[in-house]
Amino acid sequence: MKKELDLSEFIKQLPKVELHLHIEGTFEPELMFKIAQKNKIKIKYKNVVDLKKAYNFSNLQEFLDVYYAGCKVLLNEEDFYDLTWEYLTKAKSQNIKHTEIMFDPQTHTQRGIKFDTVIKGIHQAMKDVEEELGISSKLIMSILRHLPEESAFETFKQSEPYKKWIDAIGLDSSEVGHPPSKFTNVFAHAKREGYLIVAHAGEEGPPEYVKEALNILKVDRIDHGNRSLENDKITTELVNRKMALTVCPLSNLKLKVVNNLKNHPLRSMLDKGIIATINSDDPAYFGGYLNENFIEIQKALNLTKDEIIRLVKNSINASFLDDIGKNKLLKLLQNHLDNY
Ligand code: HPA
Ligand code: ZN
Repeated sequence: MKKELDLSEFIKQLPKVELHLHIEGTFEPELMFKIAQKNKIKIKYKNVVDLKKAYNFSNLQEFLDVYYAGCKVLLNEEDFYDLTWEYLTKAKSQNIKHTEIMFDPQTHTQRGIKFDTVIKGIHQAMKDVEEELGISSKLIMSILRHLPEESAFETFKQSEPYKKWIDAIGLDSSEVGHPPSKFTNVFAHAKREGYLIVAHAGEEGPPEYVKEALNILKVDRIDHGNRSLENDKITTELVNRKMALTVCPLSNLKLKVVNNLKNHPLRSMLDKGIIATINSDDPAYFGGYLNENFIEIQKALNLTKDEIIRLVKNSINASFLDDIGKNKLLKLLQNHLDNY
């Protein structure tokens, strides 16, 4: 009898790419307590177990409140280095070959940490990991949408000396009430400066926010995009434009964007021909890194081996690597599959 393919093992061994990952969302409680102790900052939870009990969210805002609170212990360049190093070594253990990392500068500059401190720590870890562990990465500077557009412009000013380290500009934080159009001017500026553009849209917000992200911000990818499917015209638009969505199954489950992974819109996205990709978003808070996201959604939707391969190929093609970089990864993947 032919041995049945163990899809979980297949997923773990696949060379993969991650496109939607907040570095602040990889802050594991153990590291948080370690850095807090070093920096002599009090955390309101007694210990790791106590803190993890707070990881029970009914919506995006409840999560964001805990996520921003956790960031308060990050003070020095070395803290940002350690945070990034820890995620990238985890990525290595999960066979991630390339990752595109978001960071939220305003989360730190608003509490008096210098932009330079944040980006230098993150960048150095990305560089060291590329040299030592062979994982390539790109950096996405994300704008907090609950803050005014002037604050985003200020962040741009601070980022100017580091332009060569930043590949794309993103938009995240509390979605409802803060449509993409609130940031028309700053994203027009980003575009003129030659940055690629991404935006969270249609996570909790309505399909119209996806439309604004497409037509006003002129995004190169949509982060989440789940609610696009409520509108046929927007769905068709995504297909026609070959616009990739960075889907985050465990995040959607934890933040109650879906009530059960079995009802996740990924199945419908694939059936309609949307370019979907799988990502972990804030893995320290949502109960799993990239492999766990693939494994859980595979089980829930009964994804086939071919569908998993398609999702990984989508990630490679939707990455911000140049054609040489993409072809290298596509070849690596093909080689792996030929020998599996
Ligand atoms: N949505 C919006 N903003 C965020 C998220 C998210 O899932 N994670 C970190 N910032
Ligand atoms: Zn996100």
